[in-house]
Amino acid sequence: MCRLSNTQDRPEASAKAIDAYYANPARQPGPVRVLFNRTARHYNLINQIFSLGSGAWYRRSCLRKAGIAPGMTVVDVAVGTGLLAREARRLMQGRGTLIGVDLSESMLAVAQKNLGIPLVQGTAEALPFAAGTADFVTIGYALRHVSNIEQTLQEAWRVLRPGGRLVLLEISPPANQLAKVSAAIFVGGILPVVSLVLARDRQARSLMSYHWQTIAAFAPVEAVLHMMQHCGFESARCASELDLFRFFSARKPL
Ligand SMILES: C[S@@+](CC[C@H](N)C(=O)[O-])C[C@H]1O[C@@H](n2cnc3c(N)ncnc32)[C@H](O)[C@@H]1O
Repeated sequence: MCRLSNTQDRPEASAKAIDAYYANPARQPGPVRVLFNRTARHYNLINQIFSLGSGAWYRRSCLRKAGIAPGMTVVDVAVGTGLLAREARRLMQGRGTLIGVDLSESMLAVAQKNLGIPLVQGTAEALPFAAGTADFVTIGYALRHVSNIEQTLQEAWRVLRPGGRLVLLEISPPANQLAKVSAAIFVGGILPVVSLVLARDRQARSLMSYHWQTIAAFAPVEAVLHMMQHCGFESARCASELDLFRFFSARKPL
């Protein structure tokens, strides 16, 4: 069941609550980079387990709905092992420019093997690209890892051309308390153990446990929409699946 929400649907989250999500000193690029470097070889397996095999389909369907098409210039921020970029490349059918950026060299090394696209090591908070150049900036499942969400959104804004679009895929806990507890047990309790057994490596369990901690602590949908608007984006909206998977999109005004 797909639920659409936008900033008009709900009362605006309080400025104080939102401020808490803008910058988080606990999410510094150094430790995040170390974690993803250690677990890069397990990332695709863990993603398969978590998405129960639907990851590629869901990523592609969001990018298609957002309007990614042949001939465009797309910057995939936090490209990781290339799971979102791979779906963008499919939709672009070999025409246009697709570039990935990530802070983890080990994630980039896996992406290098899987994708034939230019990849750059860098951070979402200071993108190594010229202003006004991209039709799309995509950020898949990484906003909850960055040290500063506002800076990240401002960088996406800077790199987009007027009329360009931002696509954010994220996961945040369901509003319903029972669904939240079920998600905590499944994603935070069962999946780390499944990851350990299948990958036969404690690092895989650590990555999965870390995923749940960041999901549980992530900003509410309204706060993310508010941040997008605060950075100047228009038509900010979010479509949710299972009240867990969030597909945010917004446009830089013409
Ligand atoms: C969960 S993975 C997502 C990968 C990919 N986008 C996908 O859809 O599967 C998160 C990625 O974000 C990267 N990352 C985390 N913080 C970052 C930052 N501040 N700047 C750039 N990349 C970052 C990590 O290195 C990791 O590769």
